[in-house]
Amino acid sequence: MSIAVAPAVVLERSVPMAGAVELVLSHPPSAVAVGPGQFFQLAVSAPHTILRRPYSAAWSDPAGGRIGFIFNVVGTGSAWLAARDEGDELDLLGPLGRGFDLEGQRPAICVAGGLGVAVFPGVVQALIARGRNVIVLQGARTAAQLLPASRFPGADVHVATDDGSAGHRGSVVDLFSNLGEGQSGGIDILTCGPTPMLTALIDVAHRQAIPLSDIQVALETPMGCGIGTCLGCAAPRAAGGYFLTCQDGPCVRADRIEWELMTDGFHG
Ligand SMILES: Cc1cc2nc3c(=O)[nH]c(=O)nc-3n(C[C@H](O)[C@H](O)[C@H](O)COP(=O)(O)OP(=O)(O)OC[C@H]3O[C@@H](n4cnc5c(N)ncnc54)[C@H](O)[C@@H]3O)c2cc1C
Ligand code: FES
Repeated sequence: MSIAVAPAVVLERSVPMAGAVELVLSHPPSAVAVGPGQFFQLAVSAPHTILRRPYSAAWSDPAGGRIGFIFNVVGTGSAWLAARDEGDELDLLGPLGRGFDLEGQRPAICVAGGLGVAVFPGVVQALIARGRNVIVLQGARTAAQLLPASRFPGADVHVATDDGSAGHRGSVVDLFSNLGEGQSGGIDILTCGPTPMLTALIDVAHRQAIPLSDIQVALETPMGCGIGTCLGCAAPRAAGGYFLTCQDGPCVRADRIEWELMTDGFHG
């Protein structure tokens, strides 16, 4: 793995869905090196922020040297990032961690809750490029907060919203539950979202006898260093003890996680 620390330049800033910002950066080494599901530590220069902030690459364009990040504003660091505009420089550390394992030919279902969808444009593109059938299940509070289906060319996209303003009224896990019934045994499941959504998905998997080893989770455990030195990103391991999300993840198979200990408080 090659890790680059170098300034990237913001090429574009846009709003891909309500409440989110997408930054397109020019940084050829990162665009070439990053794999689907890997993340970067982005330096922020806001007052009273010392630590970099971890963000998954939403997609990359190795030929054009471009890389995209999609995020929402939850605090000081993300607010600073959201205020960047064309021509600004950003300091990236990465790519870091382990991405999704995309090997195999089975159909893949990508289950995204809220801003968890941010990691999936590049993942879906890579799965489609491998000739795999891909279903995207995306959940959000309202229709305006959904990433448009056009961001997943070649995939079969289904949506759920809490208020019923688009697709199924309810949770994205309901969508998965309905779909999973007919497909258990022959699918790969890739997921990212809030901890309650992930634990609900795991419950459905148990009920439908889907092996947890068929599910890969992109964890968003809060991080300090991002490079294995601070121990701040420990997540509970099924075999006992903890693993480091920044090194063993962020994408890990669900059977490696002790789900009983994956409480909401654990994730912030
Ligand atoms: C590997 C990885 C990839 C990520 N990818 C994305 C992404 O693509 N898009 C995106 O929008 N976000 C992503 N996140 C979450 C993002 O890193 C945090 O939202 C960000 O660090 C918050 O920084 P802040 O300074 O704005 O907020 P802070 O001021 O640090 O915190 C504000 C609030 O957000 C909460 N918070 C902080 N970090 C997290 C977290 N990781 N999970 C849940 N709550 C948190 C805090 O508890 C606090 O309540 C990712 C996190 C990880 C670990
Ligand atoms: S974030 Fe420091 S060890 Fe993982």
